[in-house]
Amino acid sequence: MTRDYRAVDGAESTLGQSPGQVPILELRDVHKVYKVGEVKVHALRGLSVRIMPGDFVAVMGPSGSGKSTFLNIAGLLDVPTRGKVFLLGRDVSRLNEVARARIRNRVIGFVFQQFNLIPRLTIYENIEMPLIPRGLPRRERKKLVLKALREAEGDTSWLPKKPLQLSGGQQQRVAIARAIVGRPRLILADEPTGALDRATAARIAALFIRLNREEKLTIVVVTHDPELAHCARKILMIRDGRIVGAEAPQPQRCIAYSRR
Ligand SMILES: Nc1ncnc2c1ncn2[C@@H]1O[C@H](COP(=O)(O)OP(=O)(O)OP(=O)(O)O)[C@@H](O)[C@H]1O
Ligand SMILES: [Mg+2]
Repeated sequence: MTRDYRAVDGAESTLGQSPGQVPILELRDVHKVYKVGEVKVHALRGLSVRIMPGDFVAVMGPSGSGKSTFLNIAGLLDVPTRGKVFLLGRDVSRLNEVARARIRNRVIGFVFQQFNLIPRLTIYENIEMPLIPRGLPRRERKKLVLKALREAEGDTSWLPKKPLQLSGGQQQRVAIARAIVGRPRLILADEPTGALDRATAARIAALFIRLNREEKLTIVVVTHDPELAHCARKILMIRDGRIVGAEAPQPQRCIAYSRR
């Protein structure tokens, strides 16, 4: 057994886990090399992790350590250079883009670090996007869009606007609404409170806690903010493209519960 593989076991969650349960997401010895002209950037160097159903995992690490690269590969937005990715027990590492998009739409809600809202669509249409393939009636879609916007601390006055007419923090809340509107089993969020003020960040943290506890959604957040990380059930540390350790969160440090 290699040293890297022991890191997998260390990173494995035992919360709410029964023997033989299949991870919702597993990365095995994943490497990612970006080529920029002649230069190669080794962004992931044998990253292994298992996320079990019902987990709420925070991933912390320095800038450039590979957090977004990890999340993009976990979210099937990108493919590893080497290693394997399993979603619900199925090897998805070598699927083509169309097949990955189909699975992603069904299973994953993704909050991008740079929001990635579609500029030519209204806020309403952006949030509605993940519901379109489901064939829900228009009225049902509208109900869900309004609910998600409210949950993500958004305002209905934004709905007819275009993304660039909103501030960064407002766009971030729209991105969160879009990720949760269809209640995907797995939410992957890259710095989801990075553009928010502290009070709003606290309410978003409370939303993630509620979605995890009450609706049993599995959540992975990448964050620099320890006050968000301590809201999770487990904190994983990433450094130089691999998971180097796990930490038990201290709930009293979670921004959703702090009174400051
Ligand atoms: N598309 C890309 N092309 C080339 N290099 C990239 C690309 N994306 C990321 N990298 C490089 O890979 C490494 C990891 O980047 P990544 O974005 O995953 O870091 P991060 O941990 O998310 O950082 P931050 O906290 O600043 O968001 C960095 O050295 C970065 O420069
Ligand atoms: Mg990043």
